[in-house]
Amino acid sequence: MNLQSVRGTQDFLPEAQAKHNLVVDIARSVVGRFGFYEMATPIFEFSEVFKRTLGEASDIVSKEMYTFKDRNDEELTLRPEGTAGIARAFISEGLSQRTPLKVMYQGPMFRYERPQKGRYRQFHQLGIELLGPASGMADVECIAAGFMVLNELKIAESCSLEINSIGDEESRRNYIAALVKYLKGVQDQLSADSQKRLEQNPLRILDSKDEKDQALLKSAPLINEFYNEESKRSYAQIISALKAMSIPFNENPLLVRGLDYYSHCVFEFRTQQLGAQDAVLSGGRYDQLIKTMGGPATPGVGWAAGLERLSMLCPLEAKPARPVAILPIHESTEQEAFKLAYELRSKGLPCEVHFSGNMSKRMKKAVAQNCFAAVILGPDEIQKGEASVKFLDQGEQKSIRLTDLFSALRS
Ligand code: HAM
Repeated sequence: MNLQSVRGTQDFLPEAQAKHNLVVDIARSVVGRFGFYEMATPIFEFSEVFKRTLGEASDIVSKEMYTFKDRNDEELTLRPEGTAGIARAFISEGLSQRTPLKVMYQGPMFRYERPQKGRYRQFHQLGIELLGPASGMADVECIAAGFMVLNELKIAESCSLEINSIGDEESRRNYIAALVKYLKGVQDQLSADSQKRLEQNPLRILDSKDEKDQALLKSAPLINEFYNEESKRSYAQIISALKAMSIPFNENPLLVRGLDYYSHCVFEFRTQQLGAQDAVLSGGRYDQLIKTMGGPATPGVGWAAGLERLSMLCPLEAKPARPVAILPIHESTEQEAFKLAYELRSKGLPCEVHFSGNMSKRMKKAVAQNCFAAVILGPDEIQKGEASVKFLDQGEQKSIRLTDLFSALRS
């Protein structure tokens, strides 16, 4: 049997899981203050849900999906992202009655990408979606919530917000025509990847990391020259509100994002600390998504953050509550020790019972486990209804009546 975890997946040992949970708890608490409440959708969906929404030519659909047939010959896909599933649930659960709908979700996502630092095949996202409002102020609320999450995780200062508008459909259509015209003129100087994209997904050429492509793009037309009035107005509203809220950003006319469902504003918080995988929290507006899926026309905006990336960057430490060690001196007091531990736990105190090995080793183990007190139970003490309690930080030891033990330990 091959005992390695599958390439691109990882085990979360207790410390890593505690950090992951800390990041989720902080993010959940922040977005809760903005009125986003958690919901969950299944980890797999009919493949159509992703194929029809993310775009056949997108990297995700064309080469990264974990797609399989189940025993009933249904074609299913492990979710590569969360937005399409939320949009599917919005339609199938009839949530259009509940707009503006603000939801948060978190959990594993799956993409068959080349694994490297910060990039995995099973990774975790935490995201928010705001469905209903078409106003740019909804984009601002989402961006502000993302910024506050990064702030409370103490990573906002090492991240920069890149923002752009890819305009509405009409503006984008006109822009793509001009971009393709320009790029066709320099086609043979483009990288092989960009030449392919010129046919299938020309906007993504703006994302190219190839230096020669980047140099050619310097003279390419820019999207902001093609905004119609509506696109101009909604983007200006967002820029002005971000300034008013002192949320720092860089306008980046080359930012396009890799999924087909976006329109108008797109954004990405990036870091320089994770090498090539620099996107920490990213998203944008998707006004046509729900309609494309057959639901009632409902604008939407949101973002998702990679939790592994947030955990790597976040300097905060998960601090589990400190336990009490219960040490029965003798076999005859073991039962009493487990009973006492059960009572204390039921009142809310974490306890560890150490009943094997010599006393000094057990005491060392208690210290190593960050216990704040050791309750030593001998037959004589139990007879008297007492325990000997050593407070490990102070080194002080005293006898405490068993009936007073909980309040003594709690204080
Ligand atoms: P995305 O940019 O594809 O957007 O992913 C969002 C975040 O997930 C990225 O910024 C990154 O932090 C993390 N991420 C993506 N791929 C990986 C990977 N292979 N390993 C580790 N982390 C990764 C979306 O998924 C959109 N659904 C976001 C959105 C929500 N747009 C509107 N609403």
